[in-house]
Amino acid sequence: MSSAASSVRPQQEAPALESHVRTGKQQLPRKRKRKSEPLHAMVDDVAEQEVAWSSAVSKFQPGEVWYDTEGRTIQAHGGGILYHQGLYYWYGENKAGPTYMSFNLGYSTARVDIIGISCYSSPDLIHWTHEGPALRGGGHADLQPRRVAERPKVIYHDETRRFVMWLHMDTEDYELARAGVAWSKSPTGPFWYQGSFRPHGQQARDLTVYKDDDGSAYLVYTSEDNRALHIAQLTEDYLGVRPGYTRAMVNLKREAPAVFKSAGLYFMMTSGCTGWDPNSAEVFYSKSMMGSDWLPLGNPCMGATEVERTFTFFSQPTFVLPLPNQPGRFIFMADQWDSENLSASRYLWLPMWVLPVPLPVQQVAARQYEAYSAGGVKTMGRQPVLPPSAVDVVVQWESMWQLQDLQDPPLTRYESQAGGQTVLAEAIVQSFS
Ligand code: GAL
Repeated sequence: MSSAASSVRPQQEAPALESHVRTGKQQLPRKRKRKSEPLHAMVDDVAEQEVAWSSAVSKFQPGEVWYDTEGRTIQAHGGGILYHQGLYYWYGENKAGPTYMSFNLGYSTARVDIIGISCYSSPDLIHWTHEGPALRGGGHADLQPRRVAERPKVIYHDETRRFVMWLHMDTEDYELARAGVAWSKSPTGPFWYQGSFRPHGQQARDLTVYKDDDGSAYLVYTSEDNRALHIAQLTEDYLGVRPGYTRAMVNLKREAPAVFKSAGLYFMMTSGCTGWDPNSAEVFYSKSMMGSDWLPLGNPCMGATEVERTFTFFSQPTFVLPLPNQPGRFIFMADQWDSENLSASRYLWLPMWVLPVPLPVQQVAARQYEAYSAGGVKTMGRQPVLPPSAVDVVVQWESMWQLQDLQDPPLTRYESQAGGQTVLAEAIVQSFS
């Protein structure tokens, strides 16, 4: 994978990984085939075995079945994490119901009726205790089973001491397109649902919230029929949005936003818009949250195979978790959706770094890019000119890894054509400190 005419970031040699793709003429993206996991009726001896499994596990195993401390499959899809007083809280969609096709107003998608938003807690990010439903389905019209409640994210308000949850609320046909908000006095809930609305009258579908170091917080949501992302600052109590919003990534059709900050810059991980099917993640960065000039950094995936990188290891981002007191080091969190059985969708957490880029590579004018259409047709080309950038984001494929692996960023090899000369840079061994 190299081209003399373009700048390339050759990927590291992949560790052996179960192949998802047949070799041959047609390389179609293929999802991992899974056995269905028993979700409800788990017999005692199986549960015991799985508790044993759970306490024996000490590493992240991206894309494998993940059990909680009681031996039940974790149900926290489209989720996010809050770190609070030494514990991590993982909130996500409980999709442990039957998957069925919804045909409504001409739009059809696989769905599961609303059950609620789960909460799990963990001291180490590997062993998760189920804290029960943080927000239950039912009650409010927005939470009726045939509605949609997706991508919950929770932040903590230091003064009101409330935990505030934002989530994407919708009707089955995804036409309501609203942001919903709920709050609780406890990280594990129950959260009190306040209702939903269209921020500034604009659609809100996939969304996230981001709390900055100074306590200001932002709602980021896919709007304008998925053509643009909007960013609005939250009100002082975090329960609404302030006047004014920014339009970002206009016409780029990005969704599944996840915001993180490093070296004073704001970054946003995004996916393309292909429903439950995977596509290429792309990172953007900006000097300010409310800036409209979010600049592209391309697909951050490294390792595994070219097809796996192109399809973000067959996953869609949901959150980026900064590791406390470890600058430049993050966990990339994504969902490996199984649209035939959404409850069996898996979690893919990988090590991620924000790295300084060596000077020669900053001259790079373009990178090679490869993309696949939903039908699996490969196109190759050069990205529109990327601005010289002093930073890069790397998500590294590992089939098994642990937090201490984040200490050593991968050796990243860049190859670029600058001023007619090929420049190689292999010097990135330090992350920001
Ligand atoms: C995706 C979105 C998911 C879910 C899905 C439904 O685009 O990221 O959260 O809404 O569509 O098809």
